[in-house]
Amino acid sequence: MLELKKIKYHPATALNPILTDVNISVNKGTPLVIAGASGSGKSSLIEIISGLSKPQHGYIRFQGKIASERKRRSISGVVFQFPERHFIGLTVLEELRLGHRRLASDKIDETLTKVGLSSLILKSPPENLSGGQQRRLAIAVQLTRNPSILLLDEPTAGLDWSVRGEIIKVIKDLSSNIILIVVTHEPQIFQDSKISSYQLNNGRLIKTIQPHKTKEPPCQTN
Ligand SMILES: Nc1ncnc2c1ncn2[C@@H]1O[C@H](COP(=O)(O)OP(=O)(O)O)[C@@H](O)[C@H]1O
Ligand SMILES: [Mg+2]
Repeated sequence: MLELKKIKYHPATALNPILTDVNISVNKGTPLVIAGASGSGKSSLIEIISGLSKPQHGYIRFQGKIASERKRRSISGVVFQFPERHFIGLTVLEELRLGHRRLASDKIDETLTKVGLSSLILKSPPENLSGGQQRRLAIAVQLTRNPSILLLDEPTAGLDWSVRGEIIKVIKDLSSNIILIVVTHEPQIFQDSKISSYQLNNGRLIKTIQPHKTKEPPCQTN
């Protein structure tokens, strides 16, 4: 389990705090989708979780133990927004092997299968793939590191509606074996009873009530 407690993030360069009191618990099995408007702090939250930034207050635990920035970097895979703009491999194989020159071919096959790209030709230039395939390749690149936590920043941004379903399927398939957090400004495409959804607003996370769920009776007060 990954737990964030009372996270406050206020870098010296920001006039106001970006995150003021963020609390989350995430387990494998249920992907967490965090929605928020542009500038609400979604990417900053990903940077905090993955250990790229340090919060001013609060702490993060992984499997019950406090996880330092260094530890979080080692256990996190991050797919930043528009990852295809940063592909530098000349082929799919080169992209997968960046940083792991000796990545075994069975590991490559296994990783591509996890993101639904098992039939991909490894010699293809990444720029020849479809938008959805490119996003899935970027996820596969992170999976080669065997992360315990996978963080996706706006994974459906700029994709056609027809392709978005591919990404949502991959997110659901992967989440049974990994702690998965998605941040997005398009929450409506992630409405699903198997997805836990939150809204980031004024630096705080608020659980989103799924519209199709029946309303629970109000709590009784004494
Ligand atoms: N290191 C930083 N220093 C100053 N301001 C920052 C820094 N990082 C993010 N911000 C500001 O914090 C706000 C949230 O940014 P960001 O996390 O990128 O939001 P989102 O991903 O939801 O669009 C924005 O107003 C952004 O300009
Ligand atoms: Mg962002």
